[in-house]
Amino acid sequence: MRRTVLSAAVLAGALALAGCGNGADSGPGTDSGKGSGSGSGSDASKAELSVSASYMPQPVSADMAAGFLTISNQGGAKDELTSVTSDVAGQVTMHSTVGGAMEEKTSFAIPAHGRLVFSSGGNHLMFEQLKRKPEQGQTVTLKLGFARSGPLTVEMPVKSATYNPSTGH
Ligand code: CU
Repeated sequence: MRRTVLSAAVLAGALALAGCGNGADSGPGTDSGKGSGSGSGSDASKAELSVSASYMPQPVSADMAAGFLTISNQGGAKDELTSVTSDVAGQVTMHSTVGGAMEEKTSFAIPAHGRLVFSSGGNHLMFEQLKRKPEQGQTVTLKLGFARSGPLTVEMPVKSATYNPSTGH
């Protein structure tokens, strides 16, 4: 990928999120096609994915926003998150935090009977090339692509810039 390691300092707080995009060049604008489909069905040999706890802290910058969510897998097979697109962003990238440094990843594993968690200070989504600045109270639409399961559409609420999911405000 075009970027590898960015400073962990940008994870320190919402105010620093703008730093996340330093060095971002403009990739091809991907307009996500509309449409949703969910591969569901109870089968122990399949992943059964659902999304919870999604939110976006209202960004301070007009260029860049972060997003968090949890993907739960109640099925007996693993899967992988392989792509994220959004109506508000030209590009959404997935980052992990490894040894205090941020790293862009092209996929994240979702274990069988397990969860993949994106949360402040850890894994996170970066919305780049914003088409509009998300404001508290709005929602943004995300489409998640997986290695095996069908895509999932998520309506992600925009919360305050300092929102803390454990206190709810
Ligand atoms: Cu990042």
